[in-house]
Amino acid sequence: MISQTPAVGEPSAARSLDRVPLDVEAVERSLRPFGQGRLLPREAYTSADVLSWEQRNFFEGGWTCLGRSSIVGEPGDQRAEAVGRGGVFLVRAQDGTVRAFANACRHRGHELLPCGADAVNRPIVLCPYHAWSYRLDGTLRKAPGFDHVAGFDVEEFGLVELPCTEWHGLVFVDASGGAGPFADHVAGLEPIVGPYELERLVTKGRHDYVVTANWKVLIENYQECYHCPVIHPELCAASPPRSGENYHNAAGAWVGGWMDIREGYETMSLDGHTGAQPLRGLDERRQRIVDYVGIFPNVLVSLHPDYVMTHVLTPLAADRTRVVCEWHFAPEDADRPDFDPSFAVDFWDVTNRQDWLACESVQRGLSSPRAITGPMSPEEDGVHQFVTMVAAGYVGRPVRPQPAAVPTA
Ligand code: FES
Ligand SMILES: [Fe+2]
Repeated sequence: MISQTPAVGEPSAARSLDRVPLDVEAVERSLRPFGQGRLLPREAYTSADVLSWEQRNFFEGGWTCLGRSSIVGEPGDQRAEAVGRGGVFLVRAQDGTVRAFANACRHRGHELLPCGADAVNRPIVLCPYHAWSYRLDGTLRKAPGFDHVAGFDVEEFGLVELPCTEWHGLVFVDASGGAGPFADHVAGLEPIVGPYELERLVTKGRHDYVVTANWKVLIENYQECYHCPVIHPELCAASPPRSGENYHNAAGAWVGGWMDIREGYETMSLDGHTGAQPLRGLDERRQRIVDYVGIFPNVLVSLHPDYVMTHVLTPLAADRTRVVCEWHFAPEDADRPDFDPSFAVDFWDVTNRQDWLACESVQRGLSSPRAITGPMSPEEDGVHQFVTMVAAGYVGRPVRPQPAAVPTA
């Protein structure tokens, strides 16, 4: 499933030279075994300097998800997205592969497209400043006025290519060019995500949220259901909040677990009914559970018997995060003229908003200089895994969940 385009350009700066602006002792407390550890220090959620470090080292320094690969679905489709400090330019080449480049023209550096703008479809890449043009594979096609300039070699001025891969219909880019193989990033995830065939599903619902909370507050919230009995009556009706288990010792940079669907419910919906068929090929067990997987740093994949939901997070500030939530269905259902995705969209919109309110309150609480973060409950082993993964990255170790220990509770 993984075809990765190679890196071209400068290697990324050595991480060891870039120290996270946090109290190292406090970070070490977050690395303790489950039952003994603490959440990340308050400043990890509130400091602009810490976010800036994370942008350089996590979002730009590793594999980051840019969303569904259908954002550049057809050959010639082009768009740019902000990643870390800069922009990434995505293009679907004539051979059908997605390629990624630094979003900067090789002449004077103008952006090839504004980040976040709608996709365009063109047979070439055209810089809007002095009209240098590139082929869809990034090679320079024409630099106006340079035809007779002695020593000008078009081969020297192709776009700077970045490693990019499509994985089950999601696009991931390594904006640093130095993150290592994508397969290592998602090691162990194929048997969990693969059976749902996300790559063939059709997106039939999308909500864009801007949440006034740090991106890690949102992910920690996703990794536990300790809060479910308190704030999610609809979710608890559909899924027993203490059901299921988390995966442990993931080989890649991800955290996940599953929960059961309650008897009498066909799926996660407000009235228990589904408007879709079970996804083809799912075994009996998968038709009765939801798997929740968070792939570091910014995509959450929720695998239901009859649809897949994704959340893609983009930090806008230390206390603000854009979340694009989308719902994906089998084409057999999505292409029906009477298909109505609201059974899934409405359920999760209610639940998302309950979560955002809680996360925004956490952020306000943590904004007090007197706030001190605490321990994780025996039901928050998924949070512990995420926190240890972040803390490991902060101290220069590979970004992976640290080996789990038995809860002391
Ligand atoms: S900066 Fe792109 S053509 Fe001049
Ligand atoms: Fe929640």
